[in-house]
Amino acid sequence: MRHRYLAPAALAVSLLLTVPASAAEPSPGTPGVGDPYYPDYGNGGYDVSHYDLRLKYQPKNDRLSGTATLLATATQDLSRFNLDFALDVREVRVNGRKAAFTASGSHELEITPARTLAEGERMTVVVRYSGIPSKVEVNGYTSWHRTPDGGVAANEPEAAWWWFPSNDHPTDKATYDVSVAVPDGTEAVSNGVLTSQRSQAGWTRFAWRSDQPQATYLATLAVGEFDITTDETADGLPVLNAYSENLGENENAARASIERTGEVTEWLQGYFGPYPFNAIGGYVPDTDTGYALETQTRPFYSPRKFAQGANVSVVVHEMAHQWYGNSVSVSQWKDIWLNEGFASYAEWLWSEKQGEGTAQELADWVYDSHPADDAFWTVKPGDPGAENQFHAAVYDRGALALQALRNKIGDKDFFAILEGWQQERSGGDAAVAEFTAYAEKVSGEPLAALFDTWLYQPVKPDASASGAAAN
Ligand code: ARG
Ligand code: ZN
Repeated sequence: MRHRYLAPAALAVSLLLTVPASAAEPSPGTPGVGDPYYPDYGNGGYDVSHYDLRLKYQPKNDRLSGTATLLATATQDLSRFNLDFALDVREVRVNGRKAAFTASGSHELEITPARTLAEGERMTVVVRYSGIPSKVEVNGYTSWHRTPDGGVAANEPEAAWWWFPSNDHPTDKATYDVSVAVPDGTEAVSNGVLTSQRSQAGWTRFAWRSDQPQATYLATLAVGEFDITTDETADGLPVLNAYSENLGENENAARASIERTGEVTEWLQGYFGPYPFNAIGGYVPDTDTGYALETQTRPFYSPRKFAQGANVSVVVHEMAHQWYGNSVSVSQWKDIWLNEGFASYAEWLWSEKQGEGTAQELADWVYDSHPADDAFWTVKPGDPGAENQFHAAVYDRGALALQALRNKIGDKDFFAILEGWQQERSGGDAAVAEFTAYAEKVSGEPLAALFDTWLYQPVKPDASASGAAAN
């Protein structure tokens, strides 16, 4: 939520006017929050606090239908506003009354309430919809991955458009209740805690609750035939993992990795401070999509991540994101280094713990394996561009930047920063410049040149810039 600051001078002027300030013309909310990489992602004019999704999904024909109820607050006098959504909308109501709507552009749902809303007024938005999400393409793709037994919504930055209407930007986090009915014998997996599972007339309804703020791209839904395992950590966190029943030769390696999520989480707490959410786990659907994603409390893992045997490193990466990315989110998508650089660095720390190579050894290896004329060095981790948001440079050079920081300020300050930043910014969002300012404050050292070299120069830094003793 953004607060409007009214300067005393402006206040004095408005008192002199005969027309009260509240009579200013209500205006439409902007169709985007102004993210430089994705200007039309998210929307202006309101702030969502809660999503209640009551859905039904039929794996046979990939049909998703149901109702989304959004609890929100107008942040301006509001005549009209947008949601980001790509499925077919049947009806919209705002505060109980039917609202006019048009699906304009690729993923924009424009809503005109029967009555304008006043700044600060609460609004309840009900959207009834249905669709075949795997068939709905926006800019030539869909983030709904159809599987032989159902489907999965998991992608970054765009995932929500294909399963629920939202204010789709990490700066507007909210809590969620996700209730999905699927044919008996099928499971519906989402984030947070499974609060109920009931069968009625051939359909089983799974209800999931996320009661800590969650960004829209971190909300996930998977439907399919899953084996669900549950447990509890030493700290009392509920553990819930879900494995597709059709993982074949990848199943053992998937279990040998994801069943270690509790151990990994306990270890990460030693670096980042208390785990920020109230559930942990992971799920592996029967998809050939290759990546993993840090969907909140319960990361998504492609079976392909386990094709060469156990891969605890990917669990470390996705669980590190629960702090770096999920609890403290990007303010704009250009701040992606705050997610990927840190999750990658956590993998190096894990390697060091396993005796498989220290962070410095891995940093040297990454540095040496990219010659100066490698295009790798032209991508700036601190502002990679939308097309390179998930380029290897954001991950690997991003981790190199942290190793250079560690070498410059020493372990004590470095690890104090990793944890202190989390405690200070928990539950919110942040920009790269705020992190670098924080690192300077804690270490008491000027770090502008170091961060400029590693995050913002499109060339290979000089070996001496790493600050490593060996170099
Ligand atoms: N945050 C994810 C990870 O590094 C990135 C997934 C990117 N891939 C994609 N297709 N969007 O774990
Ligand atoms: Zn990542």
